Amino acid sequence: MPAIVVVGAQWGDEGKGKITDLLAEHGDAVVRFQGGNNAGHTIVRGDEEWKLHLIPSGILYPGKRCVIGNGVVIDPRVLIDELDALRARRVDVGGLRISANAHLIMPYHLLLDSAGEAKLGKLQIGTTRRGIGPCYADKAARLGIRVQDLLDEKILKKKIVAAMEPKRLSLRPFEKDPALDLRTMTEEYLIFGHRLEQHIADTSKLMWEMLENDELVILEGAQGAMLDIDHGTYPFVTSSNPLAGAACVGTGIGPKAIEEVWGISKAYTTRVGAGPFPSELHDEMGETIRERGGEFGTTTGRPRRTGWLDLVALRYAARLNTMTALVVTKLDVLSGLDRINVCTSYRGAEGAEFEDFPYHQTVLHHSEAELTELPGWKEDLGECRTLSDLPQGARDYLDFVAEHTGAPVALIGVGPGREQVIWTEAGQQTLIGAAAARSTPV
Ligand code: IMP
Repeated sequence: MPAIVVVGAQWGDEGKGKITDLLAEHGDAVVRFQGGNNAGHTIVRGDEEWKLHLIPSGILYPGKRCVIGNGVVIDPRVLIDELDALRARRVDVGGLRISANAHLIMPYHLLLDSAGEAKLGKLQIGTTRRGIGPCYADKAARLGIRVQDLLDEKILKKKIVAAMEPKRLSLRPFEKDPALDLRTMTEEYLIFGHRLEQHIADTSKLMWEMLENDELVILEGAQGAMLDIDHGTYPFVTSSNPLAGAACVGTGIGPKAIEEVWGISKAYTTRVGAGPFPSELHDEMGETIRERGGEFGTTTGRPRRTGWLDLVALRYAARLNTMTALVVTKLDVLSGLDRINVCTSYRGAEGAEFEDFPYHQTVLHHSEAELTELPGWKEDLGECRTLSDLPQGARDYLDFVAEHTGAPVALIGVGPGREQVIWTEAGQQTLIGAAAARSTPV
């Protein structure tokens, strides 16, 4: 069992943090491979709550390796704040390793993100305004500043000049911003470098060594398949690839190292920001789901758009990721509904039915969800720990989802607590496989 990838199978916010946290208990390392602090995980441990944006959730286990891979874009200020907050709560952060090749979010990226959205006006994407898009744009334009540059003052200064120069025009309204002063910025980033130095490493080599030793590596995706810059609902997407395939490039390992791909989906759908969402609910039911599910962003606090589970999109995500198992989170939120709808196909503007996710944006933008009605269940699920504890309606719902997605359900979330999960046989088999490979008991 070399590596297992955990990815979002919807538009992000599926509850990957909790699942990664559960798997991390049995793993040796947790690794981030894309995105930045646009992501946010809330992990609940007893009475304590942890909100992490950049640091992999495995950090809460003493002695576990946590890696921020080269594919991640890092706002060093946010990373240092997160490290300080963890230290203040007596969490040992000594196991964190940061790729020297990861790109840095600079003050001008934040300004460009907001300016870009303002310019788009009504057409705006609804980004998290964390500078993610502009940072990845600089990476592709070969104007990026990398973590390793923090360790060399001369190079850092040269690179900042080169990166800022072409942006002068767009940054004109901000030119007097003290954060854009070359000296101030260089000095500040050099200090960040000193603070992070002990964690900077050749993480691709580290990963290779761990895999060679048969250690269990958990690769933690951020966002979700439908926000993928290549395969998602472009341009209403993030600027990276939240798909399992990106776990290789974003960490520097080969595809053969990956054995399992777990796709995480809520029992319904949510989306933050603009863009198509065929199964969206604009009525009271949508509001009920938002309230019951606490559907407000961890990163920006924005209310999330809500809708029925979209099986067309989920099937697409299963295909894009070669998903080996599905995790269904927040099933408890649907308790008490007489009937539950799921989207099983799309109806295009001209009446055509689409069972596969349409490749053309015009078709998608005009698609409406064709719904299949399933019986609901009344019981509270918070105490269920095995499949047989679940009411028949909930079990039928899961069977329907698994059959239409083509992946077995490995794990089910029935409440926010760490223990509020049900491991199915498929999920347990993965853990047993992992333990056997490492010759340690589960
Ligand atoms: P960006 O990643 O900040 O550029 O935002 C681009 C789009 O991705 C926007 O619609 C955001 O709301 C969405 N997005 C980015 N990160 C997340 C996330 O972690 N969860 C959900 N949506 C996200």
